[in-house]
Amino acid sequence: MLERFGVSMDQRLLKRFDRLIEQRGYRTRSEAIRDLVREQLVREQWTQPNAEVVGAITLVYDHQAEDLPHKLAEHQHRPGDLVVCTTHVHLGRRDCLEVVLVRGPAKRVQRLADKLISTKGVKHGKLVATGSGDAL
Ligand code: NI
Repeated sequence: MLERFGVSMDQRLLKRFDRLIEQRGYRTRSEAIRDLVREQLVREQWTQPNAEVVGAITLVYDHQAEDLPHKLAEHQHRPGDLVVCTTHVHLGRRDCLEVVLVRGPAKRVQRLADKLISTKGVKHGKLVATGSGDAL
């Protein structure tokens, strides 16, 4: 059920907000505000160690770097149930992109992401933290 509410806002702030949401492609303020709220709810979820979260870890690395593919696989096997699936794309002669989809308690997922991203030889890593839709 939808509920309406009024928001008071400084005119200048509102103008900047309108410009931003137009650039981002929002058609209404309501949809933009709903997404901002959802973003905060997801963030809040990730601060609770045992909250069930979903995420994607992207890793760019040189597969010729000493034992790296093996090390990355080891990290992903250990916490077994956290990794839903992995997609591997060969970017060039040496570089690979791996996307690891993860689901589980926030703290464990974060720890796995940190471990993978900080592995020597990983050139760039990022965790996209999101949540399952039913809580949003
Ligand atoms: Ni590759």
